[in-house]
Amino acid sequence: MEFKKFLSFLGPPGCGKGTQAPKVTDKYQLQFLSTGDVFRQAIKDETDLGKKAKDFVSNGKLVPDSIVIDMISERIFEEVKKTEGILFDGFPRTYTQAIALDKMLQKFRARVHAVISFDVPDSVLFERITGRLTHIPSGRTYHKTFKPPKIPMKDDVTGEDLVQRKDDTPEYLTRRLKEFHENADLIKDHYRKLGVLISVNANQSINSVTNEVLTSINKLLK
Ligand code: AP5
Ligand code: MG
Repeated sequence: MEFKKFLSFLGPPGCGKGTQAPKVTDKYQLQFLSTGDVFRQAIKDETDLGKKAKDFVSNGKLVPDSIVIDMISERIFEEVKKTEGILFDGFPRTYTQAIALDKMLQKFRARVHAVISFDVPDSVLFERITGRLTHIPSGRTYHKTFKPPKIPMKDDVTGEDLVQRKDDTPEYLTRRLKEFHENADLIKDHYRKLGVLISVNANQSINSVTNEVLTSINKLLK
């Protein structure tokens, strides 16, 4: 396990975590694990996990730490066997989750190698979130203006329907941003002390963000 890589994307709703993830997982052969995607699929499938998470996710609130940590600890070692490591999107999202992840990895003499913090003013996020279109089964996202699908309201890869997420309204976004800001500084301080925090400017074109993300990860993983 020591040689496996564990990376995390940290940033407010709409900052571009899901958009940038495939570039990083492709380049570094990582498994992608988005807690938001897992919860949305579980809610759609009406599993036990979905039933536990539903009210929190649909109201823009954080799912309780114990549910998130149990879910990750059940999956992490199966997922990591498939590739060179894991890119987490939206996890850890609280200080408690960060400490739990460190402990899970310590058991296998592994650690978090890089946490990429997406910096972008809140004001930019309203247009991104309200114009977003999502393919729930894969987590792929599009934007009505900034990244339109080839055929309106259809996923480019499967041709299946795109939807607007229920929590993608200005009202829920305000709530999700509050949750994010209440937790982000403690998580950043933790990873800064460990020397693995990277900040990128996420308030630029999608391609420019990709370049900055890949260049920064390259430096840290060297
Ligand atoms: P989650 O799914 O993680 O949502 P989020 O953090 O709110 O992030 P988003 O998916 O909204 O944004 P993103 O950064 O991926 O943006 P995207 O790339 O799509 O979590 C949802 C819910 O699940 C939470 O509220 C909570 O309830 C629960 N949850 C999940 N994890 C949890 C945890 N660890 N603990 C507790 N609860 C948890 O981009 C947005 C849009 O902008 C897209 O349309 C895209 O095309 C466009 N775009 C992207 N980049 C750019 C750019 N540079 N310029 C212009 N447009 C852009
Ligand atoms: Mg996302």
